[in-house]
Amino acid sequence: MAAKPLLIFTITACILRNVAVSSPNSTLTAAHAELLEYGFPVGLLPANLQAYDLNRTSGDFVLKLDDTCRITLPPDNYLATYSKKVTGKIVENRIAGLDGIGVRAFFRWWRISGIRSNGQDLTFEVGYITKSFPSKDFDESLECEGKRSSS
Ligand SMILES: *[C@@H]1O[C@H](CO)[C@@H](O)[C@H](O)[C@H]1NC(C)=O
Ligand SMILES: *[C@@H]1O[C@H](CO)[C@@H](O)[C@H](O)[C@H]1NC(C)=O
Repeated sequence: MAAKPLLIFTITACILRNVAVSSPNSTLTAAHAELLEYGFPVGLLPANLQAYDLNRTSGDFVLKLDDTCRITLPPDNYLATYSKKVTGKIVENRIAGLDGIGVRAFFRWWRISGIRSNGQDLTFEVGYITKSFPSKDFDESLECEGKRSSS
């Protein structure tokens, strides 16, 4: 019977620790929770998220970052940039009409237009090209690199 309070304490400690580690900010925490609910890992959102707006009926969303953000995507070290404003439409396991995220490949920038999730993998759509990566590579929210404000 003594095990129960200990278990509760452990769970509480874990929750508190996760909050402290992964969420500097309640806006980010809330956005992470929404993303997970739609079947996507939290690592798709840069940590400098300032505000977001989601219409739960239509799935239309707007993300506002405090600045542009450059991130090196974990699997193959693709360089991605997020504009200060990112828009799109999210439904379960699918983000479409994405605007504001670019990726550098084959010596030029491409717009990531959509992202699909099947639980195991994320598939990024760049025009007619798609590329899949394991979702677990995106389990952590990524900090923006440097603090260059443009280009
Ligand atoms: C945290 O959220 C507030 C709004 O609640 C926002 O103004 C602020 O810029 C956010 N902090 C960061 C680091 O994005
Ligand atoms: C949300 O989307 C629905 C369906 O497109 C629309 O009717 C409604 O006005 C939207 N709500 C807001 C707050 O924009």
